[in-house]
Amino acid sequence: MRTFPALLAGLCLAFDASSAAAQNLVIGKALFDSQCSSCHGQPPRLVSNGARAANNASMIRRAISGNSGGMRYLSTLSDTDLSDIAAYLGNYTGVPSNSATSSERLFNWAEWKYQSLLAPRATTQSISQYAVRYFSGSGLYVGVAGDTVYLYDQNNPGAGVNSLGSLAGFLSSAANDGF
Ligand code: HEC
Repeated sequence: MRTFPALLAGLCLAFDASSAAAQNLVIGKALFDSQCSSCHGQPPRLVSNGARAANNASMIRRAISGNSGGMRYLSTLSDTDLSDIAAYLGNYTGVPSNSATSSERLFNWAEWKYQSLLAPRATTQSISQYAVRYFSGSGLYVGVAGDTVYLYDQNNPGAGVNSLGSLAGFLSSAANDGF
């Protein structure tokens, strides 16, 4: 049987790093909850022309740049963040609240929590018994198998595949962050 790193190495070649990740409603919701809901409420209430922000990230960018309601301090939010928020505003009743599989919850939360490391956002692949997301920006693979979360660093193959801890433990942190 091939080892996990060997499978990953094969997988790596199969990836097209340039393919854009789809907008992520779950991350959009978490961002809205943490960055917007203090003023705009939950469920979302967008004043004046705010309803037009649904599926319209550039409108949110304009509101931030124009400092509507003192929003300029949100200018550190990335374009990806804003497009996820806009997608969420376009479908905020359609967010699966923790109904996704536990590995998807883990991956969504981890991408939200460790944005700079786990980028660009990835889709989940199945490799042997692992559910895996590969992050081409950092060369990191995050995998889930059974109740364990694993990490493999393509840039440090000698370190092998390491357990990061139990899935249940990560999921309770994720639940605290609204995932
Ligand atoms: C500090 C409070 C505050 C936060 C946080 C905040 N907003 Fe606002 N926002 C406002 C207020 C107040 C207005 C209305 C100002 C106005 O219409 O001039 C507004 C207006 C808007 C508008 C409408 C702009 C327009 O031109 O009509 C949008 C869209 C919007 N906010 C989106 C967001 C999003 C998305 C977030 C989170 C990333 C966010 N806001 C965070 C206070 C806030």
